[in-house]
Amino acid sequence: MRGLFALVTLFALSAPSAVRAGSSCIAFDTTWNLLAFGFNGKDYNAGTSDTWASGSAADITASGRPPFNGQATKCYLSEFNNAIYVLGADTSQPAAIYIYDASAKSWSTQTVTAGGFDPTSFEAILDHDTNFFYALSKGEVWALDMGDLKAAKSDAAVWSDQGAADITTTNYDPVMGIAQNHIYFFGVPNVAAGNCPIYVIHFAAWQPTPQAYGNFPDSHGQATSFFLDSGVQQEIAFIPDDGSHVYIVNVETNTTQTLGGPATVDAAATYFASTTALVQLASSGAVSWMPYSASDASANSAAKWSAVQNLAAVAPPSGGSSTGGSSAGSGSSTSGTGAKTSTKAGGGSPATGSGTPTGTGSGSNPSGTGASAASRVVVGSGTALGLVAVALALL
Ligand SMILES: *[C@@H]1O[C@H](CO)[C@@H](O)[C@H](O)[C@H]1NC(C)=O
Repeated sequence: MRGLFALVTLFALSAPSAVRAGSSCIAFDTTWNLLAFGFNGKDYNAGTSDTWASGSAADITASGRPPFNGQATKCYLSEFNNAIYVLGADTSQPAAIYIYDASAKSWSTQTVTAGGFDPTSFEAILDHDTNFFYALSKGEVWALDMGDLKAAKSDAAVWSDQGAADITTTNYDPVMGIAQNHIYFFGVPNVAAGNCPIYVIHFAAWQPTPQAYGNFPDSHGQATSFFLDSGVQQEIAFIPDDGSHVYIVNVETNTTQTLGGPATVDAAATYFASTTALVQLASSGAVSWMPYSASDASANSAAKWSAVQNLAAVAPPSGGSSTGGSSAGSGSSTSGTGAKTSTKAGGGSPATGSGTPTGTGSGSNPSGTGASAASRVVVGSGTALGLVAVALALL
């Protein structure tokens, strides 16, 4: 294994400034334009999903941007501020948070006091209501207040330790989703498939027992939340590393839709969702998406993945095919990039789970803004594996 990681390191160091899921990122702004950062040294606005099939994404590269040279860059949308927060995009300032004001199209750099927080090893979500980051790192929960920032403030933002996580974190590579001001953890050791332990942000407390959502595997993977135009996010897409399915977990009804997996099976891919699209950034730099409807499960079952062509036109993926076409959403399809695991996840038929929709929201929410959404994109974790696969593929 050590040899493999040495190889990974070598590969990572020698790679040209290509698009990689680990150093590039995708995010949406609040009018659901797809932004792509760190694509061959540039940033792009690919517009809304109705424009992705042809043409060229707009170059929005501007001064003050990070170098996008990290290994686990993470981008988050602060919906109230129409700002993208970029973490881990500058190895010379690993804790810095770069802020892209999507309205002003300008960058600034927020200094951060990391304290005991390791900015090179964490997963995090951005809570919509409070605009706090919450991270899990080395067994501890950490929080950082982003205020109403769409540009950096003069004093440092501070990571503060919220105490030990109330879940098994040994050998746990965190997978976190945000919805209803709660954090949902996937693939936690000693927690049954289909269940998530929950951290309740406004009470800074863990629910005593995991919540059951239906049918998804106990696996590492990636999670990202669907936004709403206003109001709390209620659904999280969970994509296990084997890419067999996309699971959409609804935290109102506590049910799960089981959809076909992405066309590109890639454990190192990252994801970001708008209100109606789930987008994948694969290790190759290929960006593809599937449409999603919060109200039409049968449309979701039939949804196909397609390339974001206007982005590929200006920032072609490395190592060949731009995934061109679309693929029907059937389980474990592939098209060959990056890390592809062979395990097959349990999932099966659509729309399992039970429970009746009722308002949930957990009766907390002192922070005022009422219903809201929150964003997250998960990077990291699978990245090393993905790079191994990429490195091996290139040898
Ligand atoms: C869904 O799960 C949450 C979190 O455990 C719980 O508070 C809520 O009552 C559940 N709702 C339904 C409809 O089961």
